Amino acid sequence: MTMEINHLNTTLASLDAAERLKFISNQFTDGVVFSTSLGQEDQVITYFIANQKLPVKIFTLDTGRLFQETYDLLDKTIARYKVPVAIYFPDAAKVEAMVNEKGPNSFYESVENRKQCCYIRKVEPLNRALAGAKVWITGLRAEQSDNRHNLPFAEWDEVHQLIKVNPLLDWTLDKMLAFITEQNIPYNSLHDKGFPSIGCAPCTRAIEPGEDIRAGRWWWEASKKECGLHQESVQQN
Ligand code: ADX
Ligand code: SF4
Repeated sequence: MTMEINHLNTTLASLDAAERLKFISNQFTDGVVFSTSLGQEDQVITYFIANQKLPVKIFTLDTGRLFQETYDLLDKTIARYKVPVAIYFPDAAKVEAMVNEKGPNSFYESVENRKQCCYIRKVEPLNRALAGAKVWITGLRAEQSDNRHNLPFAEWDEVHQLIKVNPLLDWTLDKMLAFITEQNIPYNSLHDKGFPSIGCAPCTRAIEPGEDIRAGRWWWEASKKECGLHQESVQQN
């Protein structure tokens, strides 16, 4: 497997992002899935998948606490690109038990509560969405944070037992924004209101000029700004 991953990394490094996605979907027919949060990176990847008509299953995790603007963008994206997007929900009984025991906003009270909410609303549905997949495509970029700086294009994901691929890994923010404008790719209107990184509404705020691009995520916490979706990336650092 290490050989295969090393080889994959060398090949992916020599291709551009559109070619990377095409190559992966050719190599791993039927087993490729892409998780979209409707963020700018993900919108670029959706564009490449739709434009090249790649047989990649696109899915999103609806935590139940997303911004209205994110739902609007989901609608717009499906209409524009005519691609199905599977929507995964958290287990209703688990959400019900948590909010009845701790209230609707328990995540502000402790890191433990926040992780519990992220686990129920994101991580467990992610596990379901990834079950049976061979490759998981994400929109992670190295530039996004210190945690993500040393990520490879492809890595073995021990937790989910599949290959995780980050086709926009080496894209800068400027390159991505220019591409979105050039191709007229639909994006979340909150990006124009100071939200560079968007997650759940109660856990995302706008940032001030000069602040880190992930400073608005779980802003009240001093800990690492990750929710557990990308566990390996956290452990590596
Ligand atoms: S997070 O871990 O902090 O929430 P971030 O918002 O940077 O992640 O997004 C990184 C990648 O994680 C996205 O490109 C996407 O592949 C995946 N992701 C994050 N949130 C979701 C979501 N709600 N649904 C599907 N994929 C998501
Ligand atoms: Fe819950 Fe906030 Fe995590 Fe969303 S980001 S799942 S609301 S703790």
